[in-house]
Amino acid sequence: MDLPIAVLPGDGIGPEVTAAALRVLEPVTKKFGHRLQPQYASVGWAAIDECGQALPPATCAVCRRNQAILFGAVGRPDRDQSLPPPQRPERVALLELRRGLFANLRHIVLPPALAGQSPLKEHLLADGIDILIVRELTGGLYYGRPQEIIGQAPQRRAVDTMAYAEPEIRRILKVGFESARRRRRRLASVDKANILATSALWREVARAMAADYPDVRLEHLYVDNASMQLLRRPGDFDVLVTENTFGDILSDEASMLAGSIGLVPSACLGEPDENGRSATPFYEPIHGSAPDIAGRNIANPVGAILSAAMMLEHTFGLLQEAKVIRAAVLAALRDPNYRTADLGGAATCSAMTDAVIAALGA
Ligand SMILES: NC(=O)c1ccc[n+]([C@@H]2O[C@H](COP(=O)([O-])OP(=O)(O)OC[C@H]3O[C@@H](n4cnc5c(N)ncnc54)[C@H](O)[C@@H]3O)[C@@H](O)[C@H]2O)c1
Repeated sequence: MDLPIAVLPGDGIGPEVTAAALRVLEPVTKKFGHRLQPQYASVGWAAIDECGQALPPATCAVCRRNQAILFGAVGRPDRDQSLPPPQRPERVALLELRRGLFANLRHIVLPPALAGQSPLKEHLLADGIDILIVRELTGGLYYGRPQEIIGQAPQRRAVDTMAYAEPEIRRILKVGFESARRRRRRLASVDKANILATSALWREVARAMAADYPDVRLEHLYVDNASMQLLRRPGDFDVLVTENTFGDILSDEASMLAGSIGLVPSACLGEPDENGRSATPFYEPIHGSAPDIAGRNIANPVGAILSAAMMLEHTFGLLQEAKVIRAAVLAALRDPNYRTADLGGAATCSAMTDAVIAALGA
């Protein structure tokens, strides 16, 4: 199978961690008889320095031509200040490249061997954590209109609007159900159905869809309870699906459970429009460009490597290949000699990557 992908390394540690992901992808795809076809393009300050734009048209063209985008990170705090916020690379590049991608997935994995890294007590992590958060990304409170401040001080009013149409709810729940089916077959649907009309509709749609997924165990949780349960029994969660605002908060909370931001991968997925065209799926580690450690070969490459695994699974349907990468990452993390500084070790980014590659054949 041909695997045409756009690779956008970006700024700071972006180039180091995307290079690590490509080093892992090459042997895995080769072993399974695929042809990896990476096409590199510049983004962020790297692109501004090359041609004056954070997201040049040539980069957009590369993204459109390929079936997935593997992204590093953008942003340089020392230079970001020189531009007004809407023109800063993070805003320009991420807004445009994620346009139309309604499903944001974050995969939070903490193997038992790394339980000491998590802010939670170790006895809560005896079986490790493996949670996939599926967050709706293009609707809800952040996009609903009206959204404004009305009137004159000191009597002003402010309004935000939370609105969801049934098809929007159905398509994100479908990602949740299908993901659960590929994993441990448990889906936690998070809402506030005791108060919010959007959540009442959400729950009704989830219940109706459950009939099509009899093999998936569906659990409904109110968002306040979900935020507690994530800390009390994180090992019980498999897939958690929720709307935009709840997902924003819960995915950050859950990411902290992994103990390092460097471990967490993500994906943004869309669906074809009425003309059969869809935005190119986007995969990136959740961390930023980490300028404090850039260029020193000490960044944790795992978030980027696992983002590549998500790409194989979600864009190309290569479940076995993705599984092999995830197993190799867990095997490498078990050895304290191959942990990077954020995990309390002394391994370099390239040594950690070598360890993952060595574990691929195991
Ligand atoms: N998607 C993106 O491209 C994205 C996301 C967040 C921030 N940013 C940008 O990145 C720049 C830096 O932002 P920040 O410092 O707030 O967040 P950051 O994620 O870059 O760094 C936060 C802290 O985590 C550490 N860290 C991050 N990734 C790591 C890794 N893989 N291994 C080891 N340690 C790691 C850093 O060293 C730093 O101490 C800013 O310009 C910001 O706008 C970009």
